[in-house]
Amino acid sequence: MKPYIFITRKIPEATLDELQKIAYVTMWEDEMKPVPRKRLLKEAAKATGLLTMLSDKIDAELIDQSRNLKVVANLAVGYDNIDIPYAAKKGITICNTPDVLTDTTADLTFALMMATARRITEAAQYIKEGKWTGWSPLLLAGTDIHHKTLGIVGMGRIGEAVAKRAAGFDMNILYHNRSRKEEAERKLGLSYRSFEDLLKTSDYVVCLAPLTEETKDLFDEKSFQTMKASALFINASRGGVVVEKALDRALTEGWIKGAGLDVFVEEPIQPDHFLLRHANLVALPHIGSASLETRIQMVRLACKNIENVLQGLTPPAAVNGKDA
Ligand code: GLV
Ligand code: GLV
Repeated sequence: MKPYIFITRKIPEATLDELQKIAYVTMWEDEMKPVPRKRLLKEAAKATGLLTMLSDKIDAELIDQSRNLKVVANLAVGYDNIDIPYAAKKGITICNTPDVLTDTTADLTFALMMATARRITEAAQYIKEGKWTGWSPLLLAGTDIHHKTLGIVGMGRIGEAVAKRAAGFDMNILYHNRSRKEEAERKLGLSYRSFEDLLKTSDYVVCLAPLTEETKDLFDEKSFQTMKASALFINASRGGVVVEKALDRALTEGWIKGAGLDVFVEEPIQPDHFLLRHANLVALPHIGSASLETRIQMVRLACKNIENVLQGLTPPAAVNGKDA
């Protein structure tokens, strides 16, 4: 009997051909809505492998009920939705999709930064609402990006790719990371700063740090108060690194100039979310890696991760044992 694999969201059938040769594969039939927890637990209890989304919680409860489970392949570079130590203890291999999404996510991060600085979404809305009555010197005037100071918090692969883009805009690039990245410093002309120094001196603070015990609630009232009043804050990693009420206060009281968010503490957010009332906030529905090309590559990599584990080979992107 072929091993059973459950995919927690509807994905293009055509990307599954290799996996289907060695496994019996089913998927949750809805493209837009996540699989209900009850159904996920039921499927996981039967499955040898799961292909999961970042919105699926793979915790001790699920793992304890899933006696055959050998591999969980998350369709994301981040894996804060998975209890990694517990999975490791139970001998389950956890995989992610790094590298294939690096440039696409860096593109989106930079686009979000530019949209926030130059008020692109506001301007596009303005014209659609018929408000454009004539040219005026300060109409929708934003903030420059070129020659400004960019502070990247979390210098992983995506951080480096953002820095590369920023270099093309003649930005002065600072970063903060748990460990120094000396090669990237040389290659990209980055300067390392303490978190506080970075906040104090950056015109743009861009968060790309994974969500961990250390980074949870990192951007709190004190952080926003430390930033320049002219600073823009961009988050493209995980909502949980931000205390949203603190950001709300920072925008209301003018501690910072604006913010661009691709991620939120609880996703999806609703139109009445308190952050959405700020005109100087650009919100996106977690689309960092969402290009067709990259999403297909991510699915292929996730499938390959599962195939290799089923065949007793090392998967191309296992995360167990590595730091988050
Ligand atoms: C998306 O947020 C990812 O982690 O890939
Ligand atoms: C995250 O791990 C990254 O690739 O930057």
